[in-house]
Amino acid sequence: MRHFYFDHNATAPLSAAARASLVACLDEVYGNASSIHHFGQAAKQKLEMARRQVAARLGAKPKEIVFVSGGTEADNLALRGIVAPGQHVVTSTIEHPAVLNTCAALGVDVTYVAADSSGLVDPGDVARALRPNTALVSVIHANNELGTVQPIAEIARIARDAGAYFHSDGVQAFGKIPVDVNALGVDLYSISGHKIGAPKGIGALYVREGTPLRAIASGGHHERERRPGTENVPGAVALGIAAETADWTSVAALRDRLESGILARIASASLNGARAERIPNTSNIRFDAIEGEALLISLDLRGFAVSSGAACSSGAVEPSHVLIAIGLTREQARSSIRFSLGPENTEEQVDALIEAVADSVRHLRRISTEVPAHA
Ligand SMILES: Cc1ncc(COP(=O)(O)O)c(C=O)c1O
Repeated sequence: MRHFYFDHNATAPLSAAARASLVACLDEVYGNASSIHHFGQAAKQKLEMARRQVAARLGAKPKEIVFVSGGTEADNLALRGIVAPGQHVVTSTIEHPAVLNTCAALGVDVTYVAADSSGLVDPGDVARALRPNTALVSVIHANNELGTVQPIAEIARIARDAGAYFHSDGVQAFGKIPVDVNALGVDLYSISGHKIGAPKGIGALYVREGTPLRAIASGGHHERERRPGTENVPGAVALGIAAETADWTSVAALRDRLESGILARIASASLNGARAERIPNTSNIRFDAIEGEALLISLDLRGFAVSSGAACSSGAVEPSHVLIAIGLTREQARSSIRFSLGPENTEEQVDALIEAVADSVRHLRRISTEVPAHA
């Protein structure tokens, strides 16, 4: 049986261009970018080329790019590298755990601004949450579960006017929608390679020139003192190529086809989050009276990989904190499925997925209403 992948927000397949650059670099460029001999300088050149490519996609200067191991480290570096004891942080209730759990671990006061039922944060709420000692405001650019895009430029302006630094987790936005750090007005911006066709284990933090970021690990002088450790040159090279080549614009039509197909075919299916202002590849749909995990497994058996957004912790399936945060009940959150498409999906796959969802939902609804004969 063939399997089709609709879980790109979890991770995307390696793109052909990124793979070619990665393999060539692994084979040929093995020097340490800090070494002054030929091999080291060859690695350094590749690293700096990658930095320019990532910077170009962000509208940033190359020296403002710090290569790290991925989105989680970028978020940690942004938060831990700015906030000091006794200060205050503002973030939202719909952040990724990389931000939420880091905020909780900072040991400072944190205000969590709520998102509305369409999955959007109100800039006015951020303004009202600010205090004189607010050091940092961190709001996710595109939510990983809903795909909703936040009014980042407005929130950044409010934060910076109040003298706070502004960070955005751009892991799901970068490469999928245009991102210009100056138009957005961010001081810090996290990205991750494996969401857009580069391998796992590489990402970057954009740090606006002049932002007083402290390294959060000790070691050598790499990455302008901001991130010690021998650089992952092949990873950075692949991220540079992915940044240069990622094109997700065609995915919106596929996502819309999937969404309208499902909503037209299946009674009591509804969309979670706003229809407007989303990244092009994400659709989060609720199927009333269906257990999301059961639907996920049924679709997997039919050859389609999706995500239920729920997390399994200590043996129990916990509903998504994002869906709860936008006002869904636990049952509604547990009956939701995230479809996240990518550039390699096709119309045929989408049409087959619509059929599979319709069949699975029909089957699951039937068995949940059937009264066993011996009852
Ligand atoms: C919004 C968001 N932030 C951060 C991360 C973490 O990125 P990484 O897997 O590269 O550590 C993810 C990945 O799921 C994400 O979706």
